[in-house]
Formats: sequence, C-alpha cells, structure tokens
Amino acid sequence: MIDPMQEPGLDLVISALERLRDEKERTPCASRAALERLLETQPASAPLATPSAVQSGSKLERLAPIRERVSVCTKCPHLASSRTQTVFGVGNPDADIMFIGEAPGADEDARGEPFVGRAGQLLTKIIETMGFARGDVYIANILKCRPDTPKGSFGNRAPTPLEMQTCRPYLVEQIEIIQPKVLVALGAAAVEGLLGERGTMRDLRGRWHSYQETPLMITYHPAYLLRNQSLSEKRKVWEDMLLVLERLERPITQKQRNYFL
Ligand code: URA
Repeated sequence: MIDPMQEPGLDLVISALERLRDEKERTPCASRAALERLLETQPASAPLATPSAVQSGSKLERLAPIRERVSVCTKCPHLASSRTQTVFGVGNPDADIMFIGEAPGADEDARGEPFVGRAGQLLTKIIETMGFARGDVYIANILKCRPDTPKGSFGNRAPTPLEMQTCRPYLVEQIEIIQPKVLVALGAAAVEGLLGERGTMRDLRGRWHSYQETPLMITYHPAYLLRNQSLSEKRKVWEDMLLVLERLERPITQKQRNYFL
C-alpha cells in the first residue's frame, strides 16, 4: 500500500531531473543500458519507444518544447511582468554557425525575434557579407526577456549576472540541440553569460576559445560598431568573421578578404 505520508518516488525523481535540467550546464543524460532497462518497464500496450527515439525528432521538433517553456517562464518575475513576449531564437536549427547576443531590446521585445533593430540589421549585413542568408544561421540571446527599464526611460539596460545565470540553461539546451560547428559570441555580456567570465573585448576577440568543445569566436557586438564607425573597428569584426569562414572551410574571395582595409 502507498504510504500517503511519503512522496511517490517517481515524483521525486522527476523533480530532481527537472532541477538538474534547469540548473546545470547539460541536460541529464542516461546510458543506453539504463534507457533500455527503463524501456523494459513499459507495459506492452505502451507506445514503443527506443533509446534512439528518446533523442529523435528533428532539431526543430526538439527545440519546440524548450520554446514553449521559455514562453511561459517566470523565473525572473520582474522580467516576466515587463516583457511583451519572450524572444527565443531564430534561424536554421541545422546551422553551422550560431550567433549569441546579449538580450532583446525594445524592437526584439515587440517582434519576438532577436536582432531585428538597428544592431540586428547590421548583424544581418555581416552575415550576408560572409556569404550566408540570415535564415542559414541561428541567432539567439543569453536572455530571452528584455531587461526592464524604468517607465518613460529610453534605451536598454545590460542584463544582471543573476538574470544571465537564471536564463542560461535555456541557451545551453539550444546549443546542445543545434550543435553548431562554430559559436560566435557578440560582446562582453554574451561572453559573460556563456562562459561566466568577464574580460575586455580587446583581450578576448580575434582568437579561438571553446564552449563545451565547440569552437567559440568572440567579437564586438554590432551595437559597438554603430557607436564606433571607424574602418579599423569594422575591420576587426570582419577579421574575426574571416576566421570563422576559414574554420568552416568556406571559400573566401579576394574581395571578401579585403573588406574594410
Ligand atoms: N542586442 C542583442 O544583444 N540582442 C538582440 O536581440 C538585439 C540587440
């Protein structure tokens, strides 16, 4: 007989797994043998699932439940109450490149899509100059909500370390599913959100880092380029993108090599 004073074991296991999923860098994993043992416990009438089915479905299908959880997330109650909507990510789930920004701004909050404002238009131009369409790559942010700002104020606020830490597990899941060949972090906040490290862009950009064994290029945020219109700063970002193209073994024309020189 079930003791009503004891929490059912299954509930405990499920809530522990959910906690791991939300708080740790990686979603919980089980060995093939453990999955097979679990599946053996299914009654014959239950739909047949195989260990590979646990991870099956297209990347788009696997992203859908995360998008759903994000859309109703209230982990940061102040952001949940101030946002118009969450901004999950956009682009090709099978992309070779994933760009990671900081947080949605007002335009993104209104449209529900990352990088659609002025900085976003510049990012799209960079992507196209690299020889891709915006829809070929995947674009996401550390934060899925726009950081709230006082009523009547203009501009955006930087995400706090706590907000980034709280939202990060969603991005971690996105990266795990998309498995891009290269990650590009745009600006110091994206680096801090992803790696938990603070640094100056001068030190960080222009060389390869890694995130969970995926090559990571760090470059300036496009908003920085909007503030600093000099050719030399544009060239720095462009050189970082040339490194990305080389890493992906994409052909690079002489014209592309010479941009902003
Ligand atoms: N800046 C970001 O970092 N992300 C966006 O989506 C828009 C602007």
